Amino acid sequence: MNQRTILVTSALPYANGHIHIGHLVEYLQTDIWVRFQRLRGHRCVYMCADDTHGTAIMIRARQEGTTEEELIGRMNEAHRRDFAGFDIQFDNYGSTHSPENRALCQEIWSAIRRAGLVSTQQVEQLYDAQAGTFLADRFVKGTCPKCAAPNQYGDSCDRCGAHYSPTELVDPKSTLSDTTPEVRTADHLFINIERLHDFLTEWTRSGDHLQTEVANYLAGHFLNEPLHDWDVSRPAPYFGFEIPDSPGNYWYVWFDAPIGYMASTRQWCDRRGERFDDWWRSDRTEIHHFIGKDITYFHTLFWPAMLKTSGFSLPTKVHIHGFLTVGGEKMSKSKGTFILASTYLKHLNPSYLRYYYASKLGPRVDDIDLNLDEFVARVNADLVGKVVNLASRTAKFVEKTGLSAVYPADGGLFDQAARDGQAIAEAYEQCDYNRAMRLVMAVADRANQYIEHAEPWNLRKDPAKARALQDVCTIGLNLFRQLAVYLAPVLPRLAEQTGALLHQPIARWDESRTPLVGTPVARFEHMLTRVDPKEIEAMIDESRAADEPQATVSAWDDGPEPLAAEPLAETCSFDEFVKVDLRVARVVEAEAVPQADKLVRLTVSLGGDKRLNVFAGIKSAYAPEDLLGRLVVCVANLAPRKMKFGTSEGMVVASGTGGKDIFLLSPDAGAKPGQRVH
Ligand code: 2FM
Ligand code: ZN
Repeated sequence: MNQRTILVTSALPYANGHIHIGHLVEYLQTDIWVRFQRLRGHRCVYMCADDTHGTAIMIRARQEGTTEEELIGRMNEAHRRDFAGFDIQFDNYGSTHSPENRALCQEIWSAIRRAGLVSTQQVEQLYDAQAGTFLADRFVKGTCPKCAAPNQYGDSCDRCGAHYSPTELVDPKSTLSDTTPEVRTADHLFINIERLHDFLTEWTRSGDHLQTEVANYLAGHFLNEPLHDWDVSRPAPYFGFEIPDSPGNYWYVWFDAPIGYMASTRQWCDRRGERFDDWWRSDRTEIHHFIGKDITYFHTLFWPAMLKTSGFSLPTKVHIHGFLTVGGEKMSKSKGTFILASTYLKHLNPSYLRYYYASKLGPRVDDIDLNLDEFVARVNADLVGKVVNLASRTAKFVEKTGLSAVYPADGGLFDQAARDGQAIAEAYEQCDYNRAMRLVMAVADRANQYIEHAEPWNLRKDPAKARALQDVCTIGLNLFRQLAVYLAPVLPRLAEQTGALLHQPIARWDESRTPLVGTPVARFEHMLTRVDPKEIEAMIDESRAADEPQATVSAWDDGPEPLAAEPLAETCSFDEFVKVDLRVARVVEAEAVPQADKLVRLTVSLGGDKRLNVFAGIKSAYAPEDLLGRLVVCVANLAPRKMKFGTSEGMVVASGTGGKDIFLLSPDAGAKPGQRVH
């Protein structure tokens, strides 16, 4: 066999957020491909790193009152943990904030300078004077200059898809401070990408580097007109690498991020005694990038241009996937479908998602949908019902005898499944996992029909049929093992369990071509249980509850006035505190008390039939109809107080100084009326 040498990357996740199930589409797609290549006997390494630079990290560090280094260190650990939890195995997981990356940025930058591609141009950028920083596109919101849609980011419009610069937004506001930013001018460094136009036209069209739809998109949207110079520097303050020949300016995060692929490789090479040039300057090595469609032009135009100019290898292929929707919609925090990897892992087995995504992923750029009902049905029917069941219904009958010494006649089932391996492998190679999974399940269907027909559970009742029983189970387990080999890239745990069950680890795809005979069979251990829909509900509930509000700089820039106006009360003991019984309550009736300036009469429910009548002095800040249905916190054991208009049986908790400055306290979504507040 011709052994290929393959370097694979996934896009480097930003260090300013946790990994969620949307990210996982890509890391699972890539991990499956890498595992497949290794199983086929190729040399394949998988590199990744955190993408650590830029304004977002700088702002978040400020908000958290910490340093960027501390923040990215913490995130790096969390990312590694999340990926490991899903059995995503990198050969190296680095950081773009590394000495290796700085050195490579410098090397590539010098080459671009030498090629005469760099120019200095004045740029108008929005500047938030309150936050003391220039604003990256995502930190500005305003009205779309093309279609007038309100509340659009500074780079593109969600509604009409227009791309523009933040200074073109109508009525821009900084998302950091909610102030109107100023326009300031600064010198930026630009790369003249147009000089590589012919090269890019040729590269994007030839050699199967891109999916056809991507090549067409580039031809129709970017390469059909002169390419704009690319702005690759940002003035201080900026978290990144200062450009050595341009003090006070930093490489824009998108300049150093893809170089992070190389820096991660270099770390790995140094650790393993490998030669870096064998991976990034060699015709023998294939380079495959897996990315999402939103970052297409960085990887298919700028990145090849950088590599070409600095004499490194060009990508063999950029594999581009679509976005994830959940239940046909964008992931939503309030609906609980914005699910963090760590939240998923608290409730569900990672193999489920690995299989489900595999069954949805095709070779095209289409979005994929996670439908939770389908998720349950597919995992239970396919993985448990068809695959694991095959082993559980046969292994226990041959625990004592092991497999038959000679492979019995099976009507050609094994050979047919072995031949199917070719089409399954081709589907994996093309990233058509959906097709691969359908082919594997067809093999599983035939195997199950055989077992149902042969009925080993009946054979075992008759001692005279012991030999027949062993033969049937030998066939069943060998068909099962073929499935485990074909599914090994997707379900590495199942492959391991199968190796342990049959005393023969699965290491090569070709093991699907030769049946095992005469080997012992271990005691059957549970391999995978059915998905319990209750766990899905619990995961969604937890994700909904974690709907953390995005802090802003101004929110963290809290003044001392409120506390000064009302200094802290005397210390109270815990026993004193718990005397106050605070409960979550729902407002079920609300009406203004016409005779009183300030009062609203509320009926709040503590769940079931328990109701309290409460008079609250909040009329100046809340209209009664806006209160209906909302959750509040209520002092539920306050001694009833007779008032002019009736008896008040409790108190709803609020802060503020009165007038419009009154703020009811609300529990987070998920809290239930009647729950005690501790
Ligand atoms: O879009 C993103 O999440 C980026 N952090 C991807 C960077 S990929 C590469 F270029 F580093
Ligand atoms: Zn628009």
